[in-house]
Amino acid sequence: MDVQVRVATDDDWAAMLHVDGRTFGQEFTPERAAEARSSIDLSRFRLAVDGSAIVGIAGSYALDVSLPGGTAAPMGGVTWVCVAGTHRRQGVLSRMMDAVHDDIDSRGEPVASLYASQAGIYERFGYGMATQIREVRIIARDAELQPRFRPTTGAVRFLSGDEARPVLHALWERWWRCRTGEVHRDQVDSNRLFDRRSAGDGAATSAYYLVHADGYASYRVTPNWANGFPQHELSVVEFVALTSDAHAALWHTLLSTDLVGSINSRQMPVDDPLPYLLTDPRAVRTVNVTDGVWASVRDVAVAFGARTYASADRIVLEADGRRWAIEGGPDGGSAKAVRSRPDLVVDSAALGALLYGGVRPSALAAGRRLAARNDDALRRADLFFTTSSAPHCQTMY
Ligand SMILES: CC(C)(COP(=O)(O)OP(=O)(O)OC[C@H]1O[C@@H](n2cnc3c(N)ncnc32)[C@H](O)[C@@H]1OP(=O)(O)O)[C@@H](O)C(=O)NCCC(=O)NCCS
Repeated sequence: MDVQVRVATDDDWAAMLHVDGRTFGQEFTPERAAEARSSIDLSRFRLAVDGSAIVGIAGSYALDVSLPGGTAAPMGGVTWVCVAGTHRRQGVLSRMMDAVHDDIDSRGEPVASLYASQAGIYERFGYGMATQIREVRIIARDAELQPRFRPTTGAVRFLSGDEARPVLHALWERWWRCRTGEVHRDQVDSNRLFDRRSAGDGAATSAYYLVHADGYASYRVTPNWANGFPQHELSVVEFVALTSDAHAALWHTLLSTDLVGSINSRQMPVDDPLPYLLTDPRAVRTVNVTDGVWASVRDVAVAFGARTYASADRIVLEADGRRWAIEGGPDGGSAKAVRSRPDLVVDSAALGALLYGGVRPSALAAGRRLAARNDDALRRADLFFTTSSAPHCQTMY
């Protein structure tokens, strides 16, 4: 085998679509191929080639990720990772990840992240679980808001078409920094998503948009008339609420949708307050919680210097034999290379979880991903790194 790794070019595009489609079991229609091409910068993509055959693909999107405190940092969103069955387990992925990481580093992006098809792959490449995906199923007849939380009529309206686009984009602009782990969308990104959601998805309808002054919910409906006992399935596509009023009003409207048997969502953060608003909190059934975004900290000084911290403190962290003093508080922080004795020793994959702040360092210690100098250092680290709301990302990449 003489496999070379090189930068992708436009001439490779048709073959890339074929290899990716074959790997992930998806057909690219001309529309879907055009949409994919418009979102990709091929100079960020690396191909493994054996002779004239593409046997591996890996690339990244240029993203901005929100970090604790409403701050943000540039991030390489790793994507399209695949190796042909003919060449698997021969180190092709490892070579491509090195090449993609070199590219992300050369662009000065301090964080890389990805969604994993299988959770066992990426820790060895320095990625740690940073967000979670929670799937909920709500049986519509069991779920209603307590009367005191119901909105006044008119708080929520439907919007569609060109009227909806700028409103949704403006709400996303206001919202994306409110939740650590979410990513920025420019108008082009928003339009691309809107167009994709304007088409049906399998048996499901195109997306509908419920809009509030401070949020929106989009959903698709899969009809099921069930011989005269309608049990449609409502699937939440995206849920954005800047205020608790918007959250309650949008959920009230979703839960009041006629003919619906069940409401499904993969977009609900693990700490979502919906159960507290209902007459029966048990109506929100969590059917799965799994890993979401995996994050790799490529530049500790820049990444940890970009976020804020919940308490004012200075904690020395050792990762991969290098030590960093992370100092900060609610207004900001800095991270500098030091030689002093560490309060915490972590493996590089755990850095991603610490950066996003969704996992308490004491939980990482219990999971053998972190060692603390003593109990007091661990208690201080819990206060310092952990965010008040769970990191979450609704954007797939
Ligand atoms: C997953 C995939 C990219 C691995 O590619 P590969 O070239 O066979 O991987 P490599 O040979 O470079 O393996 C690198 C390391 O990862 C490990 N590894 C590879 N695939 C793994 C998997 N599915 N689960 C756990 N570990 C895996 C290897 O054992 C190896 O470990 P080592 O360094 O300790 O020896 C490839 O099998 C594939 O394309 N699968 C289908 C598409 C997919 O799932 N892509 C990932 C999308 S997020």
